[in-house]
Amino acid sequence: MALQLDSITVSPSLCTASTFPYPSVFGVEFVAIQANLVTNYSTYVSDLYYNHNPELWVENATFCNVTLTYTHPGVNDHVIVESWLPIPWNGRFQAIGGGGWTGGRTMQAYQSLADATITTDAGLGFDEFPNNWALLSPGNVNWQYLDNLGSKSLNEQAIIGKYLVNRFYSQPPKYSYFNGCSQGGRQGVQLAQRYPEHYDGIAAAAPGMYWSQFFQAMVWPQVVMNELGEYPYPCELDYLQQRVIQKCDAEDGLVDGIILDPHNCRFNPHQHVGDSFQCHNTNTTMRLSRTAATVAQLFHDGARDEKGRFLWYGPHWGANLTTTIFGTPGMAATNCTSGKCESLPFPYGIFWTGLFGVKDPQFDLSKMTRAEYARVFRLSAHEYASMYGSDNPDLTLFQESGAKMITYHGLLDDICPTRGTEQYYNEVRRLHSNASSFYRYYEVPGVGHCAGGPGGIPTHVFESLRNWVENGKAPGPIPIDVPRLPPSQTRVLCPYPQKIRVDRRNNTRFYCSN
Ligand SMILES: *[C@@H]1O[C@H](CO)[C@@H](O)[C@H](O)[C@H]1NC(C)=O
Ligand SMILES: *[C@@H]1O[C@H](CO)[C@@H](O)[C@H](O)[C@H]1NC(C)=O
Ligand SMILES: *[C@@H]1O[C@H](CO)[C@@H](O)[C@H](O)[C@H]1NC(C)=O
Ligand SMILES: *[C@@H]1O[C@H](CO)[C@@H](O)[C@H](O)[C@H]1NC(C)=O
Ligand SMILES: *[C@@H]1O[C@H](CO)[C@@H](O)[C@H](O)[C@H]1NC(C)=O
Repeated sequence: MALQLDSITVSPSLCTASTFPYPSVFGVEFVAIQANLVTNYSTYVSDLYYNHNPELWVENATFCNVTLTYTHPGVNDHVIVESWLPIPWNGRFQAIGGGGWTGGRTMQAYQSLADATITTDAGLGFDEFPNNWALLSPGNVNWQYLDNLGSKSLNEQAIIGKYLVNRFYSQPPKYSYFNGCSQGGRQGVQLAQRYPEHYDGIAAAAPGMYWSQFFQAMVWPQVVMNELGEYPYPCELDYLQQRVIQKCDAEDGLVDGIILDPHNCRFNPHQHVGDSFQCHNTNTTMRLSRTAATVAQLFHDGARDEKGRFLWYGPHWGANLTTTIFGTPGMAATNCTSGKCESLPFPYGIFWTGLFGVKDPQFDLSKMTRAEYARVFRLSAHEYASMYGSDNPDLTLFQESGAKMITYHGLLDDICPTRGTEQYYNEVRRLHSNASSFYRYYEVPGVGHCAGGPGGIPTHVFESLRNWVENGKAPGPIPIDVPRLPPSQTRVLCPYPQKIRVDRRNNTRFYCSN
């Protein structure tokens, strides 16, 4: 295949710390290096975790595992970058981003590392949540750590990684890539915005840009329920989700459980108030409450202030409102174990409002009025925009560097609203008449946050990015395997603003058109 590069090999005996004297990186002081040769390394890499790529089996791999620890003098932090330099090497450098509140170097990033080069912990270790570092004390945000996660570690990771490659193989990478989803997607677009010279290709899926806005929008359904003082059963919202599919699935010409274009789904949950259905929480027949319809409608409409003014987007119709792809309770989940339902805020979301919004570790969402919510929403969106918002549409320098970027975003994303990414891409298009010559965006039907859902996993995106970077072939429709449907199908993803269409004479043929 045209993407094959020459194989570069070096002596395994080069894999010692002495091969890698500390590089000079402005503002950085190295404190430790470890280098050890790993041989016969075999692992399964799941397409669930190795974003943009098909699953793969790595067998008997040999690589030099180099781990560097550094600090920013005066900050008292401790950042670890880990690099796996393979023997032989295909000349490509790939950095793997993080997820949730981690910068990278998690068990998930480790999976991908077997086929990539480097990942950083951004100084945050393995903590899944930010409560150990977010505040220096009540009222005082740990700006330095947030800045590490926001962007600094991304710059340093690229510089350090390329240095290690150069030392080990005596040549720079032929092509450099960044690959991430969610937090990793935010890191990708942040790199394009702030460090446009580092990567030739960036795959930035479901990017967590407008971080402050979308994180506060995560707790919006709980704010709504607290205001109503009523909490529906999860089964009620799940019932409505089924009705959404029934209402809108067929509109694309195909009844398959996947709404190809939820933008056009005109669903009114209030029409179902009083519907009788079987509730999986209580194992009884139940009638849909007005509260459930209100919560579903307001979540879908997005966060609003006390005067009804728009703050941020909600998910498209069809997204799961009560369970995330990780199997945890979702944004509009409630806890009904006591027989009476109560608020159950999404932990990843509540940390933003509590620790970074009101800066109080004792924060209690249930006591927050809608007006207070809206005030904190607006103020922290402003406060954190430049360091962590990652939403600057000016990609002039990225375009001039010749680099390419692809973003995909699942249309069933319940955590990070797809419409935020659509807004960003439209802003980029407004600013750059030629945006599609360096940045393309794909909306993915039937897929939740990064993966999950009936739509399949976008496993051919990285290959499309490489083809764009290395062969100059801009991606058009990108194939996606939809294995859940019998028989397994290959469909297409379309570059925005094109839409996916079903051939009315042959409904297993999909194509893109305006
Ligand atoms: C891999 O393992 C086999 C058998 O355990 C051994 O013979 C071989 O030398 C190993 N390869 C490397 C590169 O260490
Ligand atoms: C990997 O190593 C094992 C043990 O040495 C060997 O049985 C197997 O054939 C090797 N696989 C490949 C693809 O080289
Ligand atoms: C790579 O090195 C680091 C630091 O010594 C270690 O924690 C990690 O387990 C190593 N990974 C492998 C696969 O050897
Ligand atoms: C747009 O991009 C194409 C392909 O990169 C290039 O040929 C063309 O000159 C660009 N046009 C503008 C106005 O930048
Ligand atoms: C329908 O489309 C699929 C996918 O493009 C193709 O493989 C198949 O041959 C087509 N069937 C007919 C009857 O044209």
